[in-house]
Amino acid sequence: MTIPFDIDLHKQNVLDSYMSYRESGDPSAPVVLFFHGNPTSSYIWRHILPLVAPVAHCIAPDLIGFGQSGKPNIAYRFFDHIQYIESFIDELGIDSAYLVAQDWGTALAFELAARRPDFVRGLAFMEFTWPMPDWAEFHADARELFQAFRTPGVGETLILEQNAFIEQVLPGATVRTLSDEEMAVYRAPFPTAASRLPIWRFPNELPIAGEPADVYATLENAHRALAQSRYPKLLFTATPGALVSPNVAARFAQQLQHCRVVPLGEGIHYLQEDHPETIGNTVREWLIELGINAQSVQNTHS
Ligand code: BEZ
Repeated sequence: MTIPFDIDLHKQNVLDSYMSYRESGDPSAPVVLFFHGNPTSSYIWRHILPLVAPVAHCIAPDLIGFGQSGKPNIAYRFFDHIQYIESFIDELGIDSAYLVAQDWGTALAFELAARRPDFVRGLAFMEFTWPMPDWAEFHADARELFQAFRTPGVGETLILEQNAFIEQVLPGATVRTLSDEEMAVYRAPFPTAASRLPIWRFPNELPIAGEPADVYATLENAHRALAQSRYPKLLFTATPGALVSPNVAARFAQQLQHCRVVPLGEGIHYLQEDHPETIGNTVREWLIELGINAQSVQNTHS
């Protein structure tokens, strides 16, 4: 058996539970929040944080129910994650931040930015969730599997009983082969069917063909706010991508203000596992261009 090796993370009480987080960099520097997606954790940022930490105060939470965070008895809907992230930010006393996000982390970032536009100083994102008018927009190779995940009874068997999101989707949407040790870390939070409820919920929340109506409407609104927003943006794309092909990314970036597109080369969904150096170095240089060092000096003198 491979023993999962990961560091013990900081813990913060949040609502009725706790959230774990990685932290690095100078606590007096501007904050960069890193939001992961399904079924990963802050572990996915492990090679990226050290590249950004020289210029920022990096904080990467594990979403509630994921990684080393608690697993309260909740439905793990998108709206639950919004509440936990909002309370986490409050508890840590963060009043503004740059956001770096992937997958469901982007939905949380877009929603946060729509609700609190003054909070967000800049947004770097990849493989983002967007309201898809119909299933034809969903990556053809994964369409049937995700439709099965959303079929009552079938989705539970695949994800809760067979652990298909960890065993199939995660390695299948990463170009390189994840090592036994890396897979052991990703498996560790989900040893039982019941523990996998947070993973099962997310594909059932993806806003596709108007369903679920509340998530679809919330993300439509968040995307409208994103299109109107003026904070700087960095969009990483990969070929072929999963939620976002390079073509979708190019069209999407055109309707945004102050958005730079950075092609990473070959990648599917878990781009942080395939391109950590490019992502980390590009985010650090982008923050420097945006004057993060100057802000940090200002902070220490104010
Ligand atoms: C998702 O979590 O939404 C996802 C994962 C892999 C491929 C496509 C989508």
